[in-house]
Amino acid sequence: MQDVEWDQALIEHYNTASPRYTSYPTALEFTSSFSETDFSAAASRYPTRPLSLYLHIPFCHQLCYFCGCNKVVTRHPEKADQYLLHLQAEIRQRALLFKQRRLTQVHFGGGTPTFLSDEQLAGLMALIRAEFRLSDEAEVSLELDPRQFPVERLTALRAIGINRLSMGVQDFNPMVQQRVNRKQDASQIAELLLTMKSLGFTSTNIDLIYGLPLQTVESFGHTLEQILILRPDRLSIFNYAHMPELFAAQRKIKSYELPNPTQKLKILQQTIGQLQAAGYQFIGMDHFALPDDELAQAQRAGRLQRNFQGYTTQCNTDLLGVGVSAISMIGDSYSQNEKSLKDWSSRLLERGSALVRGIGLSTEDMLRRDIIKTLMCQFLLEISAIEKTLQQPFWDYFAEERRLLEPMVQDGLVTITAKRLQITAKGRLLVRHICFCFDQYSRQRASQRAFSRVI
Ligand SMILES: C[S@@+](CC[C@H](N)C(=O)[O-])C[C@H]1O[C@@H](n2cnc3c(N)ncnc32)[C@H](O)[C@@H]1O
Ligand code: SF4
Repeated sequence: MQDVEWDQALIEHYNTASPRYTSYPTALEFTSSFSETDFSAAASRYPTRPLSLYLHIPFCHQLCYFCGCNKVVTRHPEKADQYLLHLQAEIRQRALLFKQRRLTQVHFGGGTPTFLSDEQLAGLMALIRAEFRLSDEAEVSLELDPRQFPVERLTALRAIGINRLSMGVQDFNPMVQQRVNRKQDASQIAELLLTMKSLGFTSTNIDLIYGLPLQTVESFGHTLEQILILRPDRLSIFNYAHMPELFAAQRKIKSYELPNPTQKLKILQQTIGQLQAAGYQFIGMDHFALPDDELAQAQRAGRLQRNFQGYTTQCNTDLLGVGVSAISMIGDSYSQNEKSLKDWSSRLLERGSALVRGIGLSTEDMLRRDIIKTLMCQFLLEISAIEKTLQQPFWDYFAEERRLLEPMVQDGLVTITAKRLQITAKGRLLVRHICFCFDQYSRQRASQRAFSRVI
């Protein structure tokens, strides 16, 4: 079991801004010089790799003030019809490049995929089956907003082939819910989760956020107690990223009502204690799972992976993103679609592709990507395997990184031997900070203010 050890002084000392490393290089390095031709070339690079498909459904019924996702809040369900027409065109066009691949994972993210009706979701699944070689064992997951979601809809989702669900909950406290404009009922969440389990959905996940207005150690502890009774397979406990200059809705949140950094740390410390006592395994940044969940098993077996959707069990898989703002990870490249709905659809109509930026990875990028991914997923790096590729001693090649890591060695966050770099139980909560030492781009950026705090 991967354990986390809380060291208050070290956490406070290292709690600086740092990327989340859902990719390396991070999305900040994408540029408009990456073209559609580059994308096609990347798609032909590893023609037999399995494929994972991400579909971004941006619509939501109501605005949650904390939200930092790419979403469009609307009362008009017909907006989705127009969007789906364009999305279907994009799927058909992209599928041409991946006809030979086995599709082993499909994920509907958002926004709120359950903004779509059962018929609309069924139509999308039918199109995916027609255009791709969907594997019988594929993971087909969807993000669900439990509000305005009748429990009967779960049967329909199961019938169209969805087999994994994730549900946003955030917090049960009525005052906190009022402040973030997101009211929902604990008994309804319980009914949904129990029904999901009885219908055979696996790896069921619940999202919570700590750091919201009016939250206290006691109030969040109580929310978590209520959730733990339900025993979801996974829990994502996000640190509230408050960036009102970037997300207008967050300006409705009064900054003086937010817990201060010390209170936030206390909430997190208590949360980790509660989760460990309840038998959850720390997967890595924000994520916890029951030991028999496939993410926890993959981590113990050294098979865990990380991509734009977070942690995953999908190994050596290319990721194709469709829909507004979606990101792809194809071959040795990353690329992203237009972020605004209007520009995404007009670009798709005019040019047949909504891709606007990306990056082709150099050999150096790939080396560092593998190191960062391994550290994020396993907390352990076997140096000898990499030395064979480098054809020189690892720490000769990474002399500057070794120098940057030294204070962390002294502080007991990492241990370094001739054969391995190991992140200790104390270092696991600061894994981003450790990875930062291997990140050439972010180190070069004069200001680190572009990233959210580690905790
Ligand atoms: C796409 S939403 C989940 C599905 C659905 N829209 C819902 O809210 O139930 C993704 C998750 O991101 C998290 N999130 C959104 N904005 C955030 C922020 N500013 N800081 C931290 N987490 C955030 C929330 O936990 C949310 O459930
Ligand atoms: S948290 Fe979910 S439901 Fe709320 S605005 Fe964001 S994407 Fe929409």
